Amino acid sequence: MRLAVLVSGSGTNLAALLAAIDADPTFGGEVVVVGSDRADAGGLGVARDAGVPTVVQQLGDHPDRGAWEAALVADLQAHAPDAVVLAGFMKIVSPAFLAQWPQRVLNTHPSLLPAFPGGHAVQDALAYGVRLTGCTVHVVDEQVDHGPIIAQQAVEVRDDDTADDVVQRIKAVEHALYPWAVRALCRDELRVDGRHVRRVAP
Ligand code: GRF
Repeated sequence: MRLAVLVSGSGTNLAALLAAIDADPTFGGEVVVVGSDRADAGGLGVARDAGVPTVVQQLGDHPDRGAWEAALVADLQAHAPDAVVLAGFMKIVSPAFLAQWPQRVLNTHPSLLPAFPGGHAVQDALAYGVRLTGCTVHVVDEQVDHGPIIAQQAVEVRDDDTADDVVQRIKAVEHALYPWAVRALCRDELRVDGRHVRRVAP
């Protein structure tokens, strides 16, 4: 399966995915393009170091969101991806975007959804005082941080944790869980039935 990965930040999840693909001849997928909404995203360097083509479309360079997203979709489609992996992509994608890759846009979110959706999930979890949080890998649907859940993993919150401590603890589990889920997608092992995602034998 040909994968596009979208990043806005440091790209550690992209790096983990590339390493997982490299290490596993049975993975069933390859990253054919990495896209970003930020020219300075660290993830673009991760892609370049791996020899993966990159595309950048910044919202501010377009008259509106629709034009920005259409340009991004066109750039991605030039590489004919079968699925899109959001890996720290800090923009919401529209129904028109999702229609290009039905049930084949995945995301990882740094909380145990449905708790703490949105862009400040770790800070919100710390402020609430939860003792467990984690990450959720899900199929993207038309609502933010809402689609059918593929996998979740919990991490503890310790008394003197800073937000960065929790972010790093979550990333450590994401780096295994997200490639695992992407591999299952690539191997056609996932079946989405309403809110439920079942894993079937290959
Ligand atoms: C991840 O923790 C993910 O949950 C969130 O953004 C972060 C991306 O980190 N959506 P990185 O750029 O992969 O290091």
